Amino acid sequence: MDSKSGRLDRVNRVVVGCQWGDEGKGKVVDLLSREADIVARFQGGNNAGHTIVIEGVRVILHLIPSGIMHPGKICVIGNGVVLDPYVFKEELETLEKLGIDYVDRIFISAATNLIMPYHRVMDGIEETGRGKQDLGTTKRGIGPAYQDKVRRTGIRLADIFSDQRLKDKLEMQKTLKAHWLGRLPDDREVDFDKIYQDMVGFREILAPMMTDVSKMLYDAYKANMVILYEGAQGAMLDVDLGTYPFATSSNTTAGGALTGLGIGPRMIDEVVGIVKAYTTRVGAGPFPTEQENETGEKLREIGGEYGATTRRPRRTGWLDMVQLRHAIRISGVDKIALTKLDVLDTFDEIKVATHYRYQGKKIENFPMDLCAISDCRPQYRAFPGWKATTSGITSYDDLPEKAREYIDYICTELDVKLLLLSTGPAREQTVLV
Ligand code: GDP
Ligand code: IMO
Ligand code: MG
Repeated sequence: MDSKSGRLDRVNRVVVGCQWGDEGKGKVVDLLSREADIVARFQGGNNAGHTIVIEGVRVILHLIPSGIMHPGKICVIGNGVVLDPYVFKEELETLEKLGIDYVDRIFISAATNLIMPYHRVMDGIEETGRGKQDLGTTKRGIGPAYQDKVRRTGIRLADIFSDQRLKDKLEMQKTLKAHWLGRLPDDREVDFDKIYQDMVGFREILAPMMTDVSKMLYDAYKANMVILYEGAQGAMLDVDLGTYPFATSSNTTAGGALTGLGIGPRMIDEVVGIVKAYTTRVGAGPFPTEQENETGEKLREIGGEYGATTRRPRRTGWLDMVQLRHAIRISGVDKIALTKLDVLDTFDEIKVATHYRYQGKKIENFPMDLCAISDCRPQYRAFPGWKATTSGITSYDDLPEKAREYIDYICTELDVKLLLLSTGPAREQTVLV
């Protein structure tokens, strides 16, 4: 940090969630965008809900990078994202209503796979088909769109600009999806002719935005522009290294930025992990420190823990160092942004799981075997609450001593530096360290 200006260094940062999503990435990316020229989303789709609060106005972005709230910053959507053009258009309309000028500021990779209406339908059918083993997806068609990408039958942005290619690809989709779409309730149908017309209709909006993102970012980097890479979801939802199968369909970890944008590792200077001061999770799957009790309800109510995308109540629990050690390692996190500290202001006691007990043994690393996780018993250390308001404090030294003890413990234990602290949803409710 530059101590004279109170501003953070201008370096190329990747920002990733370190838990199960909703750590406050939107707020932090908005804040860090000040020191960047370009903000680039590299994975996920509109399963994400990134909240930004500016002068009392709350904006939830699902696809467009959170840098859009800073006039003049360039926003980029990479090939690793799955983009629903219907939702994207709505999001542009939201920006228009807010008076945000996005013209010549948003660019999308020609290789970005599109989420089609049949993907949304399939997401619902798949969830029903999983029965008791359902994942609790956002039902936005994310999984099915990534399935088509990996199956090499997906429709990419560039495809919609050729009449014949689009027709051929939709025809193939109609054949491939017949098995699925035959299972729809009578009153619902997927009209492929309408999809074709809709895609043709989207050309006007999307044509000026389509570009070679990899080349664009490389040139910007070479010209000493600063890039901020914005992740969605969180480490534990990573399709490879998270709590599979209770995960999303993309690589949410720092590595996802490389393949999701077509950049090399040297284009990243610093990995920033967002850590919420406690833990939440939406959807099904293991959550060792979950508190299904009054404590959990208190965290939910004070923290306003209701999904930004689906409005579902989020599951809540204590901070989990076993889970966080894993998240920090798999993304190579250098610094953390600790968010929602204020939510703990009124607690008498704050607990942190330091390790688990598994089959009579102490374990400190998160098991990759789902069955093992359910047999792990978190072991807690209790910290005395600071019982004072932290919102509005702007200097680390002014924080209550007990809050500093809690923060110091987290950073020491995880062997990371603290970049910033967030003590409320607004930009100014931040302590730059
Ligand atoms: P994201 O998906 O990681 O961007 O996080 P979400 O936007 O889904 O959820 C975070 C929620 O917490 C939003 O409602 C934010 O406005 C809010 N928020 C972010 N930082 C803070 C904080 O430090 N304190 C409080 N009380 N709320 C915060
Ligand atoms: P942000 O970026 C929290 C969860 C869903 C479900 C699982 C799979 O706002 O942090 P999907 O629709 O992706 O197939 O659902 O992943 N999930 C999220 N949870 N925050 C998110 O995004 C999420 N995106 C997906 O609830 O459990
Ligand atoms: Mg969210």
